[in-house]
Amino acid sequence: MAKKMWAGRFEKATDKDVNDYNSSLPFDCRMYKQDIEGSIAHSAMLSKQGIISEEDAKSIASGLLSIMEDIEDGKLLFDNSDAEDIHMFIEEELTNRIGDAGKRLHTGRSRNDQVALDQRLYLLDETATIIEKLDLLIQTLVDIAKDNLETWMPGYTHLQRAQPITFAHYLCAYIEMFKRDVERIAASSKRTAISPLGSGALAGTTYPLDREWTADQLGMNSCSQNSLDGVADRDFAIEFASSISILMMHLSRFSEEIILYSSQEFKFIELDDAYSTGSSMMPQKKNPDVAELTRGKTGRVYGNLISLLVIMKGLPLTYNKDMQEVQEALFDTIDTIEGVLTPFTGMVKTMKINKDRMAEAALGGFTNATDLADYLVRKGIPFRNTHEISGKLVHYCIENNTTLEKLSLDEYKQFSEAFDNDVFDAISLKTCVEKRLVTGAPSPMQVKLYLESL
Ligand code: ARG
Repeated sequence: MAKKMWAGRFEKATDKDVNDYNSSLPFDCRMYKQDIEGSIAHSAMLSKQGIISEEDAKSIASGLLSIMEDIEDGKLLFDNSDAEDIHMFIEEELTNRIGDAGKRLHTGRSRNDQVALDQRLYLLDETATIIEKLDLLIQTLVDIAKDNLETWMPGYTHLQRAQPITFAHYLCAYIEMFKRDVERIAASSKRTAISPLGSGALAGTTYPLDREWTADQLGMNSCSQNSLDGVADRDFAIEFASSISILMMHLSRFSEEIILYSSQEFKFIELDDAYSTGSSMMPQKKNPDVAELTRGKTGRVYGNLISLLVIMKGLPLTYNKDMQEVQEALFDTIDTIEGVLTPFTGMVKTMKINKDRMAEAALGGFTNATDLADYLVRKGIPFRNTHEISGKLVHYCIENNTTLEKLSLDEYKQFSEAFDNDVFDAISLKTCVEKRLVTGAPSPMQVKLYLESL
């Protein structure tokens, strides 16, 4: 085993099991690019401030770039290294390649500010990918909604048919949720884009670092304003995991409906063969695995959020090794959401919409009973009374196995003299939806305006 960089005060080498237990290289190696970017900016700043020579900074930068290239070409492998983490791995390799200049890189820096920086940079890169994928899902929903402005379907409360809406209007609900998810993720990114570099181990440093300059070089908004806070907090990771948990909650509810709506009992939609799976035993089966996995992975993301909160909750300031555990929960959250979004969007994009079945369901469940009551209100009867009349008519229809549309005017008149021939138009599905004109309501006109406003 190579001698540790910190071995100066030790008389014994690290126990082999402790070494494996302690090592974060198997998972923090994914931040090699951000670690190298951070080191190049740091060494450039050191030379700008006259702390190291310009030649040293140049040789550090070119050494680091050659390491990056070799990692990316698969020429430099992590798995045969006994370095403790990605930071030591790269620094050791740099010193092997360029000699003493490599040993000057860590001047005025600690792995504590370095690891916090790497995680922030890594998260910012991945956040851009996540937002891109989420935008694609939103765009897909917009396209489907545009084709379904007049696809009537029942809206539900308590999973009981409630009032008629359209499939476009239903999809727009998710568009709104996903738009807020994008906003939430973007807003927390502002707080992630703060550079902790220069906080040192915990108490800053006596070298005259230009922290603002390094932050700027790295594309960060600013640098952190307290060195203890800079190395001790991981709230940016928790905020991210929380935003992704909310996003997963939305995706999971949507999934649940896709599972229900694609069942034989509903048959509102049919998933494409390419986005469904079969059964090894039952030949007739076509299963909505993509939606089910999304619902399942929601639990996993919530688990990561809880892990992060619990890991951090009892730690005295500043750095504690417990915080290394933050990384895996953070990375798993990133991998999970990135893994979910592409197949989910594909599933939604390719599903068939059974407009007839949806309309039939909207017609079958007395979803126009409220409109019937509202009709009588327009004839001057108070709503509380019209609600009761409409309820009695529904009861009558159930007893006689019919629907409100199919009753005769004579039958209506037995319940109230106020009914007239115009009742049939007033309770038609088309009228019920088209008359809902307030902002956010399902009328095709409103939904079209909304979609155009995006
Ligand atoms: N691998 C460590 C982590 O992820 C890096 C920081 C180590 N700092 C220390 N003081 N031991 O947390």
